[in-house]
Amino acid sequence: MARAPGIPAQPLLVAFLAWLVTACSTKVAYVDDERLRNAEEEPENWLSYGGGYSEQRYSQLAQINIGTVSRLAPAWSFDFDTYRGQESTPLVVDGVMYVTSAWSKVYALDARTGAMLWSYDPEVPGSAGPKPCCDVVNRGAAVYKGKVFVGTIDGRLIAIDARTGKPVWSTLTVDPKRMHSITGAPRVARGKVFIGNGGGEFGGRGYVSAYDTETGKLVWRFYTVPGDPSRPGDGAASDEVLERIARPTWHGPWRDYIGGGHAWNAIVYDPDFNRLYIATGNGFPLNRKYRSDGKGDNLFIASIVALDADTGAYAWHYQEVPGESWDYDSVQDMILTELRIDGVRRKVLLHAPKNGFFYVFDRASGELISATPYVPNITWSKGVDPVTGRMTVVPEAYYMDAPFTSSPGAGGAHGWQPPAFSPKTGLVYFPAAENSTHYISTPDYEYVEGIDSPGFYFHGAPAHGAESAAPQRVPVGVSTRSRSYLLGWDPVARKAAWRTDVRGGGGVLATAGELLFQGRSRNGVLGELAAFRADTGEEVWSYKTPNAIMQAPVTYSVDGEQYIAVTSGAGGAGILSGGEPAYARQPGRVIAFKLDGAATLPEDPPLAPPPAPPEETWPTAVVDDGKAHYARLCGRCHGLNMRSANIIPDLRRSAALADKEAWRAIVIDGVLERQGMVSWSKFISPEGAEAIRAYVAEEARRLAGSIKAQDGSRPSIQ
Ligand code: HEC
Repeated sequence: MARAPGIPAQPLLVAFLAWLVTACSTKVAYVDDERLRNAEEEPENWLSYGGGYSEQRYSQLAQINIGTVSRLAPAWSFDFDTYRGQESTPLVVDGVMYVTSAWSKVYALDARTGAMLWSYDPEVPGSAGPKPCCDVVNRGAAVYKGKVFVGTIDGRLIAIDARTGKPVWSTLTVDPKRMHSITGAPRVARGKVFIGNGGGEFGGRGYVSAYDTETGKLVWRFYTVPGDPSRPGDGAASDEVLERIARPTWHGPWRDYIGGGHAWNAIVYDPDFNRLYIATGNGFPLNRKYRSDGKGDNLFIASIVALDADTGAYAWHYQEVPGESWDYDSVQDMILTELRIDGVRRKVLLHAPKNGFFYVFDRASGELISATPYVPNITWSKGVDPVTGRMTVVPEAYYMDAPFTSSPGAGGAHGWQPPAFSPKTGLVYFPAAENSTHYISTPDYEYVEGIDSPGFYFHGAPAHGAESAAPQRVPVGVSTRSRSYLLGWDPVARKAAWRTDVRGGGGVLATAGELLFQGRSRNGVLGELAAFRADTGEEVWSYKTPNAIMQAPVTYSVDGEQYIAVTSGAGGAGILSGGEPAYARQPGRVIAFKLDGAATLPEDPPLAPPPAPPEETWPTAVVDDGKAHYARLCGRCHGLNMRSANIIPDLRRSAALADKEAWRAIVIDGVLERQGMVSWSKFISPEGAEAIRAYVAEEARRLAGSIKAQDGSRPSIQ
């Protein structure tokens, strides 16, 4: 520190100490709008979910670069107290890491050592466990003016004192009777914290709310789809525009469960226009035939909607999937930047949703600049009409009268895993996949509150456990997933700069060290962190982790050392239904890497315990009955078609399988409710539960047999 001449040292020291005391007592995590707006100027921190308002997930740090990355090794790891999925982006503010975990828990860690400073448990009741479609995950917190904000599985938004970890206020953001939950990270700007929720598998309407960061009071709310037409409105910011623009795009009788458009992931603040962009999810029921009499665009599902951040007033929208019917959420993260297009510099929003098209929008007007397929063989759409700017959907794709094989499938060409954008290369990086799903409309529709009722059978990529109740009617051999890769996409030239094959790749971080970092899964459950050249996509480094990685890594620095940190923990959509082999359950963790790091990671977990079938056998009719019940009620957590990754227990290996009373106590009486395994007696009789046991027992015997068959030929990997 340079010292002004002539001023004695001591007062300076006193002043410094006084500053330090104030800094430590009141200025912890004092992230304000100014800092968020200029986040790239303090690359030692990672201030918000996307790394700043522009959500580029790009860092100026370059100590770890192509020349040094081979020395990257674990600096520390921190184990969570749960086996469930981990999807959190850690935030780092002035040497402290704020990271969330499954069940919406929050931890403050010393970013240099991983030592815990405090933890906060919102005590989400186990009965809320079934509310999210795809595990009790949480994608991260927000930090603003000394508070940490987290949304919970049971729909609360909570402000926590960043210094002490004690709650300051808590607001219920959802109707607790509905199957609505929060897994997404809140965003903050101008004294408001913005949050949406999930629930598009179970019915109801999506919305985004703005709360006062100091008091937790609701400032405004914007519903993404219209409500009961016999009522005057919601008294919300969305009332006028929903009646004027959205209502005419909906048809057929309105029902309490109809809607969708849940904003469960991306909400981005744009300081250039003081706007909030919200990205909305699928419609409900998924099949438009049962949602809107088989017609209409159904605004604002599968759209980007721009709102005034202060009032929630509508500014513009673009619907990426008119009349969405394939589970094509448009909730993927949005990147804000400026690009030179046809010689003109424009403020743009970049978006790569599930539907397979890469979008470039003009942020000022909402004008669509381009929409380009980023995966081959898209079957549901012929692309954007150059005159109207509207997506042209192939009419047969709505599977109204005949089944349709749509590509991408229900899993989408790109999930929620965040993309990154490097201003240095001008490329957008994200994990992309080629897949398809065969959709068959159900002959009629029954809504059952509490379990997913999409209105179609399908064969192909899993969509939330809605496995066909009539599998014999589904043609087999439909292609599902042929290829997945890390994509380097040029949004100006509108083509791939490169594709690098990566299986199970997660979100991406880009750095000024000319590198990309991406986690992935080995075998679905075990993991690996890898680094790639940002210009060519060549993999230059990788490190095995005990647990799969889904979320994008972040980078920060403390005491002049750069770290790469990531949460690891298999779970979430798709992975719950992992393939074989299955492993013993293990906790999720945060892992931080640095050059010449000297920590060691835990060993890979051992294989899961062997299947435990009982001696008893049951008539085939009972087993078949059990199979249908399992597909309807249990598969989305315990594994579709009994393909369990054992993150939520593989029932074939459960000790309860051979114990009729224990099985009934769990499934009917709900004795494991605290752990998120509720009673299913609302949907099933004790005889039905016993039939499921019969089916699982049969599958357990089959698994035991296949393990035996492998003995001798090659080592058993079950
Ligand atoms: C929303 C997710 C979810 C659904 C749906 C679900 N379960 Fe579970 N189940 C769990 C979780 C979580 C656990 C483990 C709790 C723990 O960590 O101990 C569990 C545990 C169990 C266990 C005990 C396993 C063991 O050995 O520890 C049994 C048996 C079971 N479930 C049966 C069922 C059956 C049968 C159904 C369908 C009727 C079902 N579950 C539906 C989440 C679910």
